[in-house]
Amino acid sequence: MRVCVRKSFLFVLFLLGSALCFAEKPSVVYASYLGDPTSSIVLFWHTSMQDEASSICYKKVGDASWNAAEGSFVKPNKYETYFHSVAVKGLEADSIYQFRIGREEKLYQFRTLSGEDHVPVRYVTGGDAYRYLSLFRKMNRTIAKQNPDFIVVGGDVAYSHGGITLFKGKGWEMRRWMTFLQEWQKTMVDSFGCMIPLIPVVGNHDVKKALSDPRQGSVLFYELFFPPDQYASYRVLDIGKKMSLLLLDTGHTAPIESQVGWIEDTLKERASTAFPVAIYHVGAYPSVYPYQGGVPTKIRSTWSPIFEKYRLRLAFENHNHAYKRTYPLKEDQFDPEGVIYMGDGCWGVAPRKTRSNLWYVEKKASKNCCTLIVADTARCAIEVFDIGGKIIDSLQLSPFAAEEMASVP
Ligand SMILES: [Fe+2]
Repeated sequence: MRVCVRKSFLFVLFLLGSALCFAEKPSVVYASYLGDPTSSIVLFWHTSMQDEASSICYKKVGDASWNAAEGSFVKPNKYETYFHSVAVKGLEADSIYQFRIGREEKLYQFRTLSGEDHVPVRYVTGGDAYRYLSLFRKMNRTIAKQNPDFIVVGGDVAYSHGGITLFKGKGWEMRRWMTFLQEWQKTMVDSFGCMIPLIPVVGNHDVKKALSDPRQGSVLFYELFFPPDQYASYRVLDIGKKMSLLLLDTGHTAPIESQVGWIEDTLKERASTAFPVAIYHVGAYPSVYPYQGGVPTKIRSTWSPIFEKYRLRLAFENHNHAYKRTYPLKEDQFDPEGVIYMGDGCWGVAPRKTRSNLWYVEKKASKNCCTLIVADTARCAIEVFDIGGKIIDSLQLSPFAAEEMASVP
């Protein structure tokens, strides 16, 4: 009996010591990019207590000394959860880094991309991700096997809004995001043991209603993926001269027409980028929804002429829950020098039947799928794979000749 009491006493002492000496273990840790992926990254984690600082220590693998980086946190309305973020800058390209959160002992890893023109960038994109957990989880494993540098989720990331929320109790939205993020942390690890960054694009199921403004109230989509005061529903991510990703908003926070001038300026400034690409949620050339729909029509009349003028190569679209690739299109008709619209959002949702006799569709399938893009400044290889990893479509692109691009007014 005396031994038992002594053991219990020691155990209580151990628990008290642990509480005093160690910070709370984050419930989830993930990474994203807001700036140059060759020299920066943004790291996020959640706690249920407000730590004294949102800070990390980090170092390049092999280095002896640690560096410190300080971030900030946001506490969303209605929830006792703190979203911490740190933007880490001034990193060496093509390197693996370790980091530690606050006083936690656990080490995490991320890597930076190469800035060399001849070293390909390798990423996956798909949309309409976490509707059904079993499909989301299975597709995640297939995606991770592609060993991408990062992944762009083209909207309807976790289905945290819409009909699915009917009769759900208090706190459901946060639990939904937590399941998504914890599943991401578990499955999205590359062959180096590094976390694979998530680049989110806003979709209709990510916000409560159209034109939801994160400055007018808590919108978890923005609070989860952007440091406070850096919320952006559309932006550009440059991967050296290889590729520029225009991540656009099909009217979920910013009106479609309000982005036209920005898209034009952004593409004009990137005339020497080998492969400018746009990624957004609702499709201009849908494979399931009607071609005459209001949003598709508006995108075709406002964005497509700019895409065509500045020789955008690919537009990845989502929202339809199927696979499609259009013919190259210009002025709403076939043109070998036009823009190819592909995707249609079928990551973790039930695939829908595509419409028949669509004049603009070259290839289509009613299948769960995502797309792998591998590009340097000389070539771009695209492979579409299904949930089992089988290639269901592929194409190769070369950059437009410099003299062609110089003739763009
Ligand atoms: Fe959608």
